[in-house]
Amino acid sequence: SPQQQQKQKGLVDLMAEASTYYQKQLKLNTAAVEYMKNRGLSGEIAQAYGVGYSKKSWDAAIKHLSSRYRQEQIVESGIAIAKDEGGSYDRYRDRIMFPIRNRKGQVIGFGGRVMGDDTPKYINSPETPLFHKSNELYGLYEARQATRKLERIIVVEGYMDVISLAQFGITYGVATLGTATTQQHIEILYRTVPEIIFCFDGDRAGKEAAWRALDNTLPVLRDDKAIHFMFLPDGEDPDSLVRSIGKEAFEESFSSATPLSAYFIEALSAKFNITQNEGKAQFLNEASTLLKKVPESQLKDLILQDIAKLTGVDRKSILKGKQDVAEQET
Ligand code: GTP
Ligand code: MN
Ligand code: MN
Ligand code: MN
Ligand code: MN
Repeated sequence: SPQQQQKQKGLVDLMAEASTYYQKQLKLNTAAVEYMKNRGLSGEIAQAYGVGYSKKSWDAAIKHLSSRYRQEQIVESGIAIAKDEGGSYDRYRDRIMFPIRNRKGQVIGFGGRVMGDDTPKYINSPETPLFHKSNELYGLYEARQATRKLERIIVVEGYMDVISLAQFGITYGVATLGTATTQQHIEILYRTVPEIIFCFDGDRAGKEAAWRALDNTLPVLRDDKAIHFMFLPDGEDPDSLVRSIGKEAFEESFSSATPLSAYFIEALSAKFNITQNEGKAQFLNEASTLLKKVPESQLKDLILQDIAKLTGVDRKSILKGKQDVAEQET
């Protein structure tokens, strides 16, 4: 409706104003500038990604915005949090601010990082009329700006990974925003590139994120797209790795990334002892549950073929056996 559009427009303006404000604050705060330097980020890259700083104050951002915006709007934008007793306070205080842009380049949210070891390390925007984290990918706007025709996108976990990769010339990184990769994310990426490389941290959280990404990708698998998984050494993330090995070696490691079909079988078979019939049966049971989510495709057939080879179970009965059980249950 026109009212809703008006409201969205107001929030877009507010977020732009907030982002400009945080950027100015960064230049005024030596500790924040020092933090960026210590993390090896150039002023140029900080500028390109609109990195800012939120002051150590309960109301600095609110005060700045309240000359032009109502308190309810500032709360609705996520910049402020309403208090039970009335009034509101700044959500982001004493944090490095990463603006999240939509595909038009409009700022729709922020991620804020503490400069020390406090928790939470990051505070991300709440869901707002502008910001829906399951639909947004940090860095996608910037990646599209950098390259006219993108050939691949690398999906990483964090803001710092995206920016660091970009500083090293890998300008096609995007990050999910403290959430699992969703089907919507993958569909957005499909519209942009033929190849997606998931590259999560080499820690337990990263491995779990990879498996969840695979699970969410299954229902939208397509023969005309390629999905790979790159596994980093334990303790590394794309930011730390690109700093230690550089752009060329980082990009070369893409060629040894694991294709989705191989990762599917490797990760699943590692969960069970498939040298025994019981383990094999559990493996087949779980594989068929997952494969049922996959649309009919050559790739699905090829995965089935590999599972048949691995287990010695006839390809057709891998899915069929399971279906029969399901039918009996209902
Ligand atoms: P740096 O420590 O600055 O290098 O960040 P990182 O991106 O390497 O952090 P980490 O690997 O711990 O987390 C990956 C991503 O998960 C972050 O970029 C955030 O988007 C998200 N995340 C991490 N910690 C938190 C947190 O405390 N709260 C929320 N909401 N998200 C977090
Ligand atoms: Mn929306
Ligand atoms: Mn991590
Ligand atoms: Mn990191
Ligand atoms: Mn990390």
